[in-house]
Amino acid sequence: AAEVTTKYQPAELPVAVNEMISITEHLVDLFTNAIALAFPELAGTQAIISPVNANAAKFGDYQCNSAMSLAKTLKAAGVNKSPRDIANEIVKNVAQSPLVGKTEVAGAGFINVFLQKDYAVRAIDTLLRKGVNPPACRKQRILVDFSSPNIAKQMHVGHLRSTIIGESICRLLEFLGHDVLRVNHLGDWGTQFGMLIAHLEDRFPNFLNESPPIGDLQAFYKESKKRFDEDEAFKKRAYNCVVLLQGGDANSTKAWNQICDVSRQEFQKIYDRLDVTLEPIGESFYQSRMIEVVKYLASKNLLEEDDGRKIMWADESSSGIPLTIVKSDGGFTYDTSDMAAIRYRLEEQKAEWLIYVVDSGQSTHLQNIYRAAERAGIFNPKIHRADHVNFGVVLGEDGKKFKTRSGETVKLSDLLDEGLKRALDKLLEKERDKVLTPEELKAAQESVAYGCIKYADLSHNRTNEYVFSFDKMLEDRGNTAVYLLYAFTRICSISRNCGEDFSDLAKILDSGTAIDLAHEKEWKLAKTLLKFPDVLVKISKDLLLHTLCEFCYEICTVFSEFYDNCYCIEKNKSGEIVKVNRGRILLCEATAAVLKQCFYILGLKPVSKI
Ligand code: ARG
Repeated sequence: AAEVTTKYQPAELPVAVNEMISITEHLVDLFTNAIALAFPELAGTQAIISPVNANAAKFGDYQCNSAMSLAKTLKAAGVNKSPRDIANEIVKNVAQSPLVGKTEVAGAGFINVFLQKDYAVRAIDTLLRKGVNPPACRKQRILVDFSSPNIAKQMHVGHLRSTIIGESICRLLEFLGHDVLRVNHLGDWGTQFGMLIAHLEDRFPNFLNESPPIGDLQAFYKESKKRFDEDEAFKKRAYNCVVLLQGGDANSTKAWNQICDVSRQEFQKIYDRLDVTLEPIGESFYQSRMIEVVKYLASKNLLEEDDGRKIMWADESSSGIPLTIVKSDGGFTYDTSDMAAIRYRLEEQKAEWLIYVVDSGQSTHLQNIYRAAERAGIFNPKIHRADHVNFGVVLGEDGKKFKTRSGETVKLSDLLDEGLKRALDKLLEKERDKVLTPEELKAAQESVAYGCIKYADLSHNRTNEYVFSFDKMLEDRGNTAVYLLYAFTRICSISRNCGEDFSDLAKILDSGTAIDLAHEKEWKLAKTLLKFPDVLVKISKDLLLHTLCEFCYEICTVFSEFYDNCYCIEKNKSGEIVKVNRGRILLCEATAAVLKQCFYILGLKPVSKI
């Protein structure tokens, strides 16, 4: 018979465990074991568990849907058994678990699983005492390559998406306890630097002694590009400058540094406003490693001459598009720097998992890089994982590519400024200035502005295109940042206004306040909150953050149902508090705690007054 292992022995379940349990994972373990016990020939088949929509609780809280597919497998092996019989066999073999109240077989062979209320009470108690803690998982070193704009060029809305999504992925993985490297793979080494340096030498001959006033790099870039396109002699010099720069020439390096500084400062302003942390490791960093990786690939006989270039096929079959590793003039490319980078990340930084948050348009490029790295023995799929967290383009409300009215790329700082203005308009429209102090109003304005821009992006499935609309994102109904921020503030205010001190939750619990989850809506809310670890585990697999947004929205709607049906504070006709239902207020606090953690991951900054 198969060996049976359960993660948790019934008797030793989490009385003193701080971490929250992913209920789905626990049930997968439990039912996988039951399948192995009931049908030893099927041992190893993972049970399929899915949560049941909270509004259909009569079918249980979770469902095991394995019986149907197991019936097919058994039939193929010559055993005829109905899914219902199989489901019954499985249920008989499910080990006792403190999480599970009852199980029942329904319909064609579904197993409905009902959560045990005692367990939920204990889990909420732990959450209140110890805070919201992540579920257990194997710790990994993960490198997230995100934002990654190009020096001297505009950081555009595509980079904004990468910045927002990347930051949230980092926060989620850090919360789970992983060692996360946040890398800004700046485009700081392309051939465009030749013309920029040449132009700098002409315009500011004294650049070696004093910083040139190139605050408007955009204009500077355009000027040099114009000369590059029109003036043959300038073009020649520009090419020469690239060679000098990549060869380490001191003056060219100085000029290059000055140009990079201007860009980096501009980028940093955006990161500060959005509360994003990144470590810059630009393409230039890999110069010496590009030389090395070319030698390495040559030594493995992976480079092929092609019309003066050196190319490499990602596939042994030489199909698809080859990587250009060395250009005919001896220079390196985007492919070369990514090959050097992947090698550095795996071999020197010792990352096990690489996450590239880059627009969908670069999918072929990145697939080529992983496969080429695998072919070259750099990337080993048995121990490494690489994900392209791709995302769709940003569209304007007209359904066309997001541009300014005059057709230019939108400057991110202008976009954020407009967000601030629109957020303020919205708050004034609601006459919040009459209630809030100027400082509170400013905090609310920033929270709403940056929150709505991030949330609008994160709440859509990132693989789709996404329409940027301030009007939509600032709506205060539906799954929006504004709705959630208001809801959160309201939930927090309940304990503040009940006339008792709720600052020490453990003390309140110790003094005998019970959370009994007796009302149907209390029970529903508790079950919703306890899905948090499941949601995190799921996102750590598919890296789709809109699930977390949907979860926040679900918490708020389930909370409303609870609040409409269950008195937390009872007042008499003259408005005096006559009864405080402490257990329910604790449930409000648990809700606020889970939401707060979700907000942190999503980059939303709640304010105490809004
Ligand atoms: N700088 C690139 C761009 O703006 C994105 C870089 C993404 N990261 C990478 N390792 N290729 O398109």
